[in-house]
Amino acid sequence: MTRAAPLRGTESRPPDHSTVTLRVNGTAHELYLDHRSTLLDVLRERLDLTGTKKGCDHGQCGACTVLLDGRRVNSCLLLAVAQDGARVTTVEGLGRSSAPHALQEAFVDRDALQCGYCTPGQICSALGMLDEAERGFPSYVTSPDEPPGAPVALTPDEIRERMSGNLCRCGAYPRIVEAIQDVGDLGDVGGEAP
Ligand code: FES
Ligand code: FES
Repeated sequence: MTRAAPLRGTESRPPDHSTVTLRVNGTAHELYLDHRSTLLDVLRERLDLTGTKKGCDHGQCGACTVLLDGRRVNSCLLLAVAQDGARVTTVEGLGRSSAPHALQEAFVDRDALQCGYCTPGQICSALGMLDEAERGFPSYVTSPDEPPGAPVALTPDEIRERMSGNLCRCGAYPRIVEAIQDVGDLGDVGGEAP
């Protein structure tokens, strides 16, 4: 049996929008989203969380780094619709001006920023990195002799390697390493936003 072709304009198309829930910095947001929207654009343009920066929009600079269910990600590379139910933490969720996060304080104390454009991504990435090191995730420069699963000592080389996905056009790298090492040495970097 041959099937008649649908009339022009009446073909059923797959949906191109969906409703998803994102829990951002502790607040649940129900959002009707174009499937092509990146998580970065939704954070900045739908939720007005402009702390997270768009640098390259190609996964190369780390300016857009946020925490997704506690792990650091490049939000420019993720489709928001695929994150239904996820927990997202942006730099706005880490601390307030009256009570900054330890990493935010350390970046200020160490003068680890110039223009500050990369800083939100650096701080979110540092928080994820410190957790990864504490949980014993090895990096490229971790000695194979280290016991598996043991916390990794935060040498400058470890910090540089683990932060290598975050670029700083201003070249504030030495101070960024020092700020992260200050907080890592404290041992407790505080939790991410609920
Ligand atoms: S904006 Fe996402 S990595 Fe550059
Ligand atoms: S402080 Fe300017 S890009 Fe890093």
